[in-house]
Amino acid sequence: WNKAALSIVVVGASGDLAKKKIFPSLFALYHDGMLPKNFTIYGYARSKMSEEEFRSSIEGSLGCRLADGAKCEETMGNFLSTCRYQQGQYKSVDDFGKLSKRIAEHDGGHERANRIFYLSIPPSIFTDVAAAASEGCSSDSGFTRVIVEKPFGRDSESFQELSQALSRHLTEDQMFRIDHYLGKELIENLTVLRFANLVFEPLWSRNYIRNVQVIFSEDFGTEGRGGYFDNYGIIRDVLQNHLLQIVALFAMEPPVSLEAEDIRNEKVKVLRCMKTMSMDDVVVGQYRARSIGGEHHPGYLDDETVPAGSICPTFAAIALFINNARWDGVPFLLKAGKALHSRHAEIRVQFRHVPGNLYRNKMGLDLDRATNELVIRIQPNEAIYLKVNNKVPGLGLKLDVTKLDLTYKSRYNNPLPDAYERLILDVINGDKRLFIRNDELEAAWSLFTPILKEIEEKQISPELYPYGSRGPVGAHYLAAKYGVRWGDIV
Ligand code: BG6
Repeated sequence: WNKAALSIVVVGASGDLAKKKIFPSLFALYHDGMLPKNFTIYGYARSKMSEEEFRSSIEGSLGCRLADGAKCEETMGNFLSTCRYQQGQYKSVDDFGKLSKRIAEHDGGHERANRIFYLSIPPSIFTDVAAAASEGCSSDSGFTRVIVEKPFGRDSESFQELSQALSRHLTEDQMFRIDHYLGKELIENLTVLRFANLVFEPLWSRNYIRNVQVIFSEDFGTEGRGGYFDNYGIIRDVLQNHLLQIVALFAMEPPVSLEAEDIRNEKVKVLRCMKTMSMDDVVVGQYRARSIGGEHHPGYLDDETVPAGSICPTFAAIALFINNARWDGVPFLLKAGKALHSRHAEIRVQFRHVPGNLYRNKMGLDLDRATNELVIRIQPNEAIYLKVNNKVPGLGLKLDVTKLDLTYKSRYNNPLPDAYERLILDVINGDKRLFIRNDELEAAWSLFTPILKEIEEKQISPELYPYGSRGPVGAHYLAAKYGVRWGDIV
């Protein structure tokens, strides 16, 4: 490992994602001693910048997660001294060639020189950059790996085009398609919870589970990203990837092993078992302006970067069904929205009623609220808790719903790593478990393309909901149709 040099090239180094996530995560890995000894980071972008200007442009966003003051500052200085900048055009083989020469000069003397390219760029130039970088700047003595961020297309057709174009320049082995939700601690824990605990796996089916909810809620609007967002909408931005990936991991059959291919084989199988959705099972919404406590919050259409009259959904709720022996008939209710009342993401698993419950309608037990529920709170304040019925201590017999509660903050001292830290480390180690395979995406797009097309072709107007509210009423009717009440709203 120390005989090899590693260069991490962040293409699109002056962009938002690079500043907010990629450089801070690389620094956190460095700080924790997780990067190989001989590593160098290269920022690659079109703007003219000196090395010093580049370093100071990222310095402010690095941050010391572990508050160890002076030591962290020293570490930050050392980290910054490994960061170099290369100006270049995105489509230019020559410019990538210049970078390659620089890397080779720097890495000379190592047996192997590995290279990772993080494409933090708009999807419209993915293919051009992949072509130029692979021709001009691949490693000839080690591995070349490329990290790509969503969106991977807008529908099945554009996905196929992108995928074929990329495959002309990169092998499947070289490509690491990120879905950062898979790097979140509680999602990484999902398979542990299920497969390493006897109390859960036997209950993990239609026999005991009544419904599953996967909820994503943000308490801010598109704020400045409206121009980008309007091309995609919340279904492509969050449901087709983050939420669907969670369902796939949640619902897959036990894999043969924990190897990447075995896990991804099971995910693809369950994705393929998902039933095509009809618009009766979809609700779309868009937030409108609202004043809260004297503060004005603009609506989606007030964002200057959003085209006038846009019907792009900023909220969507869907009911999804899996046609297989394990899940037949169990509604998976997914909802995601921007500008809602709070920021949280969670999975809620509602179990069936206890058959012949001796406490039915007695002792204050409301059967509907008293079903066991397992909640996996992905963020914030990460936690897993199980709602159970319990006798209120004392002489009488009164029941109460209470929680067996594993709140991470009280159980574990260490701050949780950011999803990007885990994922970048996995790329360095060549571990593909948490990366999306081409056929997973193919299945995900076939599931969503028909409704996306219908929404666009029929120009289906979103239901308006006020900024900071709980979203459109339609989402409650959708859940009610399947006898469900959204758990995060009760
Ligand atoms: C991104 C979406 O993938 O995930 C954003 O494009 C969204 O719209 C973000 O805000 C949410 O990520 P997190 O980790 O902050 O929940």
